[in-house]
Amino acid sequence: MIHFTSVSKFYDTDIVLKDISLTINKGELAFVTGPSGVGKTTLLKLIYCAERPDEGEIVVAGWDLKKIKQSAIPFLRRNVGIVFQDFRLLANKTVSENVALALRIHDMHPHEIKEHVSEVLKEVKLKHKESTYPYHLSGGEQQRVVIARAMVSKPAVLLADEPTGNLDTETSETIMNLFKEINARGTTVLIATHNDALFHGTGRRVIYLKEAQIEREVVG
Ligand SMILES: Nc1ncnc2c1ncn2[C@@H]1O[C@H](COP(=O)(O)OP(=O)(O)OP(=O)(O)O)[C@@H](O)[C@H]1O
Ligand SMILES: [Mg+2]
Repeated sequence: MIHFTSVSKFYDTDIVLKDISLTINKGELAFVTGPSGVGKTTLLKLIYCAERPDEGEIVVAGWDLKKIKQSAIPFLRRNVGIVFQDFRLLANKTVSENVALALRIHDMHPHEIKEHVSEVLKEVKLKHKESTYPYHLSGGEQQRVVIARAMVSKPAVLLADEPTGNLDTETSETIMNLFKEINARGTTVLIATHNDALFHGTGRRVIYLKEAQIEREVVG
């Protein structure tokens, strides 16, 4: 589902990722970890084409990101859901409006949009908050809305960057269980985190980055 072949990425002259080759298979739930500044976020950004590689090839859900035209990127992004900290909810929109926004680019009837939003809000157990504004939600609830927004277009791939960043242990577990459920329904999930607790005991693949390269892979 995600293929990196000898990928390198520089910011100016600084090398952030060096000669990375990596395959994440369809249906996998895997983690990328490593110290702050090692390139986890950059790796995810390459997958949804927010950054371009300087060397090597990336293929995501059948799209060759080396050749992809700027105009095709929105189509790629229908297949790649993202849960990123700098991509938060709109304060002046309700929970359902925030989720529905992710669907606007699709040609859908309003009643169809409503149905999809309702369904996904049930899945993250926030149907009762559909008319609430983000300001009135707890951090964990807000994060579940962000996940709902990423899920609503039923992407083949879901990317999450520090999805439990500021959340307590119990809420983190709830969020993690949500990712497991999403994955069990067939979505390939890749989570970047420096929080070991998130992958310990999961039995899932954990990719460690160190000094711009893949240092090792372990089972969490
Ligand atoms: N847009 C950018 N321009 C220049 N340098 C950048 C840019 N984005 C990231 N960097 C640098 O690239 C390196 C990797 O950053 P990245 O955000 O990928 O790390 P990270 O592993 O996600 O770190 P953290 O755990 O703190 O989130 C860092 O040294 C960072 O300063
Ligand atoms: Mg990061």
